Amino acid sequence: MGKHDELYQRSLSDPHGFWGEAAEAVDWIRRWDTVLDDSNPPAYRWFAGGELNTCYNCLDRHVERGRGDQLALIYDSPVTDTVKRFTYSQLLEQVAQFAGALVARGVGKGDRVIIYLPMIPEAPIAMLACARIGAIHSVVFGGFAANELATRINDAQPKLIVSASCGIEGKKIIPYKPLLDAAIEQAQHKPESCIILQRPQVEASLQAGRDYDWQTVSEQATPADCVPVAATDPLYILYTSGTTGQPKGVVRDNGGHAVALTWSMRHIYNMEPGEVYWAASDVGWVVGHSYIVYAPLLYGCTTIVYEGKPVGTPDPSAFWRVISQHGVSTLFTAPTAFRAIKKEDAKGDYLKQYDLGPFRALFLAGERSDPDTLNWAETMLKVPVIDHWWQTETGWAIAANCLGIEQLPIKHGSPTKAVMGYDVQVLDESGKEVPRGDMGNIVIKLPMPPGCLPTLWGNDERFRNAYMTTYPGYYLTGDAGYQDTDGYLWIMSRIDDVINVAGHRLSTGAMEEVLSSHQAVAECAVIGAADQLKGQLPVGLVVLKAGIDKDKDEITKELIQQVRNQIGPVAAFKHVVIVPRLPKTRSGKVLRGTMQKIADSEDYRAPATIDDPAILDEVTEALQSIGYATK
Ligand code: COA
Ligand code: AMP
Repeated sequence: MGKHDELYQRSLSDPHGFWGEAAEAVDWIRRWDTVLDDSNPPAYRWFAGGELNTCYNCLDRHVERGRGDQLALIYDSPVTDTVKRFTYSQLLEQVAQFAGALVARGVGKGDRVIIYLPMIPEAPIAMLACARIGAIHSVVFGGFAANELATRINDAQPKLIVSASCGIEGKKIIPYKPLLDAAIEQAQHKPESCIILQRPQVEASLQAGRDYDWQTVSEQATPADCVPVAATDPLYILYTSGTTGQPKGVVRDNGGHAVALTWSMRHIYNMEPGEVYWAASDVGWVVGHSYIVYAPLLYGCTTIVYEGKPVGTPDPSAFWRVISQHGVSTLFTAPTAFRAIKKEDAKGDYLKQYDLGPFRALFLAGERSDPDTLNWAETMLKVPVIDHWWQTETGWAIAANCLGIEQLPIKHGSPTKAVMGYDVQVLDESGKEVPRGDMGNIVIKLPMPPGCLPTLWGNDERFRNAYMTTYPGYYLTGDAGYQDTDGYLWIMSRIDDVINVAGHRLSTGAMEEVLSSHQAVAECAVIGAADQLKGQLPVGLVVLKAGIDKDKDEITKELIQQVRNQIGPVAAFKHVVIVPRLPKTRSGKVLRGTMQKIADSEDYRAPATIDDPAILDEVTEALQSIGYATK
């Protein structure tokens, strides 16, 4: 048995011993009573009875142990032509100061704080400041519209919101404050106050008595100390797409999260404290939470906050410039970023201009890594390119090639094997394990390892219904795929209405809700059609109400704008087509899967239960008119 398999077996047969040892790498204020409290399944609690502070583990302890002068964070922003460096001591000072500002505004342990910020150092500073005082942050990605922000405000009920005057997307400046004001206006819950960072590109107007200037409140504050929290207390809520317009508020605890992420830096990413780790993502996504902010700092690495794109800021050499300039050892990003680079620099001419120095591994996640992109990245970079599979719910990798344990042979298209603590199985509809090589629903036998979601915010019932009831005793990942005879996992598709657009997880159900609300629409379906750059793109098919005589182009334009206004530009909803009817089974279920296959020009077999097969020809014709189903 190889090292990976040996450790894996131990993690499953002796979770108490395995994770108890891993927990020694974290500083505890009070040691746990039990490594795993399994008295109330499916609610498992890691390190119950333990107390710690995540911010202390990310900052203070490194300063106390002599890392104060080491770089903790590098802000690299090609869009503002800025590079700014923070040592651990400097970052600690700023975080304690901002934590003091939050306290002065009445924020305390257990209060929620929404953070709506672009990729600037103030985002991790605000997150860590919340962790420091035991407040629960909920970061909302900047590409979401006011309506999505309002939904999250209503659900999380924040005491305070932290935002900035603007974000910068390539060459576009996006004022954030009007979006924030509209969201607060729309939400039933009203925050007591907002702290706004004024960026030089745009000045936000502040509402007296509610809005405060970041700079002023920070300067006036008394630095706040770390507050002890229970290992099982929430560190953050991160909303992610489910099957409806109401996103799921994934909760992350403090103790299990700190243990799992610290373990992952050594064993999955093969990092040493002091090295530079770069996750080119956004703090609004789980990758940003775990691998821009928490894991690198927990482990004593230097992290990079990059405000730019893989291409266009200014060109496809952006990633190579950052790696070379800051001495990055490991890069983590989504395959779509590499597809974007490859499209503009297939021969790697830009890459040749840079010496990548200590760079030794590329990790990809967020969507399936297509073998073409993997091949290209390997050939160009000449380092291992590691696909690994995870979800917002788990917060860290479920399957990976753990470079810090042993490098297993790479199979293109597979994220390798289940990671320690994850008992991954593939089941059929009846809950029986399928033979190796057969497709099925991918599940994780409970308990899941530390770091995975203990529940959904304020909604234990939805947590159980969404993940735990389909197969009692197992967590439903929502992904379908298979395990091969070598034990490698192959993650092939989602089993629900979630699609993946440029590594961003989106709900087709949410888009359908927006389309249905248009007065001309009788019914609709949104599918995820294959896209060379973004992996998938949403395509809407709508049936109009009888008697609508408005111009069809006008209607489709309105529908596109409506999704952009209500969900946000990140939905990348640009294709919608009007069809006479939607294909359905006789029981009325819309055949989204079949339409997706048609759009992608894949072979399909119309289900025997279809009410009228002729509808599929109508759909094919309509999709052809917008450039799909062409082969
Ligand atoms: N704030 C405001 N708007 C944003 C935004 C933000 N933080 N992030 C994206 N948007 C906007 C974009 O400007 C774009 O708007 P447009 O329709 O006006 O052009 C839209 O949302 C879609 O964004 P995106 O899907 O990112 O497309 P893009 O064409 O701007 O860039 C890539 C394509 C591939 C370069 C880009 O998606 C990327 O770098 N991906 C990296 C992977 C990644 O970050 N994954 C996250 C999980 S690991
Ligand atoms: P998110 O919660 O946004 O991280 O999205 C999680 C989903 O993205 C997973 O459930 C998968 O559908 C998909 N995903 C993430 N990483 C991979 C991967 N390496 N291979 C295939 N699919 C992936």
